[in-house]
This record gives sequence, structure tokens and C-alpha cells, in this order.
Amino acid sequence: MALHLSWTSVIVGCISASLAGIFNNSDLYPRLWKESSGASSISDAYPPLWKESPGEFSDYKVENGKYVINVWHYLERMGTYKILLNKTAKYFEKFAPENEQNILWGLPVHHGWQYYTGRLADPTQRTGCGHESGDHLCISVDSWWADFNYYLSAMPFLAAIDSGIMGISSDNVTFLPPSKDQMSFCYNVSSCHSSFPEAMKKWNEFYQHVKSCSDNLDDLLKYLWAAHVSSLKIAHKNFHDRLKYYSKQEADFERSWALFVDYLAPPRFPTTLTRMYEFQKGLPTRMLASGDIAPFIKDFTGFQNTVLLALNFIRKVHEYTGTLSFTVWKTLMKVKVARKLFLEILEFILHFFN
Ligand SMILES: *[C@@H]1O[C@H](CO)[C@@H](O)[C@H](O)[C@H]1NC(C)=O
Ligand SMILES: *[C@@H]1O[C@H](CO)[C@@H](O)[C@H](O)[C@H]1NC(C)=O
Ligand SMILES: *[C@@H]1O[C@H](CO)[C@@H](O)[C@H](O)[C@H]1NC(C)=O
Ligand SMILES: *[C@@H]1O[C@H](CO)[C@@H](O)[C@H](O)[C@H]1NC(C)=O
Repeated sequence: MALHLSWTSVIVGCISASLAGIFNNSDLYPRLWKESSGASSISDAYPPLWKESPGEFSDYKVENGKYVINVWHYLERMGTYKILLNKTAKYFEKFAPENEQNILWGLPVHHGWQYYTGRLADPTQRTGCGHESGDHLCISVDSWWADFNYYLSAMPFLAAIDSGIMGISSDNVTFLPPSKDQMSFCYNVSSCHSSFPEAMKKWNEFYQHVKSCSDNLDDLLKYLWAAHVSSLKIAHKNFHDRLKYYSKQEADFERSWALFVDYLAPPRFPTTLTRMYEFQKGLPTRMLASGDIAPFIKDFTGFQNTVLLALNFIRKVHEYTGTLSFTVWKTLMKVKVARKLFLEILEFILHFFN
């Protein structure tokens, strides 16, 4: 019930926002729209600096017979995704050309958004890490977004190596540790297995299904989301303290976003390239500052204001009902017809705004 209400509000919000034109984004919105409708090739949807990122293991440094990857550097972390997408491409080519239906796209596309909106930068401002004025490719260990993303980059990557998809030995890759909180992360296949066995198992399971080639996209999405949720569970436990570095608006958005992702799992949101790209246009294009109150943020589009409003609304309902709304949602999404309906509504919203 609660979620029906919230999604109804999303749709009503979307439609009224753009029809009534209550938001003043006359210059930004048409530009985004033109960009998407004029998109001539699939590579327009690639995350920033995709082309510049390493695409093969041999692009990384080798030390003591191991590839050493600095995942605290945007290009090197993005490179792990690029290799992953490349090595899994053959399993998804039967669904669409150009790897477009590879459901792993969700991870790098979202990471790209984190980068260009400044969310990987040091939120404490004590260092220039990730900032325009400093080393803008640096990923800060103090960034809440970067820490969450670690479990959605390092883990799927190492589990892919472990599952044999990447064509190299499990002992051959190691990640560099960050400057602090080293105990919260893991750095190679064996240490990730011992520190976070459940999540590694789930990612491994996903790759086994990818490799078996007998599952359809919907089944694969089920395993992908199970692994995704399992990674996020670890992050939820470890990085609550990062929220204090942000404005109240940004911290609230972080809480809402993390929760929203949990809500996207039961309907198995299809994280393919184009859909992720279109969906992401609804996300804030910069960090939120105090005073940014959706739906009245002037430099955001109607889509962005509405999404922000809806995400906060879902969190409030979730908190108000003491997570009952999530239980209801999960139960509802077990019904195939309901799940299909929800995905169609979501698709409608994306098309409406793109
Ligand atoms: C809306 O944006 C236009 C063009 O950018 C500007 O000229 C106008 O003053 C803005 N109106 C309001 C109410 O902010
Ligand atoms: C990877 O592992 C194999 C043995 O499993 C080893 O021969 C090789 O030198 C290692 N290092 C690299 C960079 O391939
Ligand atoms: C994967 O990477 C290799 C080496 O860069 C390239 O030759 C190949 O075309 C890529 N495959 C796909 C499907 O992108
Ligand atoms: C993996 O990392 C752990 C500590 O993080 C280390 O003790 C172990 O030797 C590493 N294993 C390999 C195979 O590199």
C-alpha cells in the first residue's frame, strides 16, 4: 500500500512537474533531452573516461608476479569494470549487439556518475583528493560513495577472477590499500573470501550462472541483485561514520539512495547500459548543499527534482512503517505480474523524461 502510494506519487509528480513547468530549467532540460535523442552511438552512454581507462590486465603495474591495482584512482578502478565488461561480453551477446544488454553495466555507469558529480572527492576538504583543484582522479577513502562502491567494484571483480571468467589465476591480482581504515576492505581473492565470505559466494554464484549460458536475463538479474545486496550489507555496517562529513541534504540523499537500491532489488531492475544511462539522468548532477530542497532546486531538472523527492518520500515511509513497507514490497514483487507492472511503469517514466 505504502509503496503503491509512493510510486503513484512519482508518476503524478513526474507528469505535473513537466507539464506544469513549475521548475525553471528551461536551459538544462532541453539540452539533456537533445543529447539523448540525438545520441548517435552506444558509446555516448559509456561512463566518463571509459576510453582512457585500462582495458587489459597488462595495462596495470606488475610487482612480484602480480598485477597491482590502485582502486583509489578513478581510471584504475574504472579499468577493473572495463576488463570485467570485456570478459563477460561473450555471455551477453545473444541478448543484444555491442554488449548493451550486459547487466554489469549498472556498476560502472553509476560509478561514472559518482565521479562527475564530485562524490568520490574528499568530503572533509582536508586533502585535494578528487577535487578539481587537487588530484581530480583520486578517490577518497573518506567518501561515503567511494567506500560503498568499493564493495561493488573490488568484490565483483575478484569474484569474477575466482570464477575463472577473467582467464587469470586468483593469486595474480592485488589491490592497494587506502590510507586509513585498511581493516574495512580486502585486497585479493583469498582475503576477500575470508573477510566477506557471504558476498563473495553470492558474486561467484552469479558468475556460475552467467557461465552456464542457460539462464535468461531475468534469472541472471536475480543472482546479480542478490550479490549486489550482499555487498551493500557489508558497506552499511562499516561506513555510517562518513555521513557526518556531508551537508544534511546530501547525507539524507545518501541514506535514501542506499535504501532505494534495496527496493530496486526485488523487482530486479534491469541494469543494462542504455536504461542505466537514462535512469541516471534523474540523479543530482552535483553534491547537495544545505538549502537544496526538492522539488525546488533551481539548477536541477524536473526529473531530478522529482526523483529526489520520491527517494526521500520512500525513506520516510520506510522509517514510518518500521520497514513494514519493505516487507510488503518484497512480497508483492514475488508476484510476477506485479513485478512486470512495476518495471513497465518505470520504463514509462524513463521514456517520458528521455
Ligand atoms: C528561468 O530561467 C530563465 C532562463 O535561464 C531566466 O531568464 C529566468 O529569469 C528564470 N526565471 C526564474 C523565475 O528564475
Ligand atoms: C600469474 O600466475 C602464474 C602462475 O599461476 C605466473 O606464472 C605468472 O608469472 C603470474 N603473473 C603474471 C603477471 O601473469
Ligand atoms: C575486449 O578487449 C580486447 C583487447 O582490448 C579487444 O580486442 C576486444 O575487442 C574486446 N572485446 C569486446 C567484446 O569488447
Ligand atoms: C592476500 O592478502 C593477505 C592480506 O591482505 C595476504 O596475507 C595474503 O598473502 C595475500 N594472498 C595472496 C595470494 O596474495
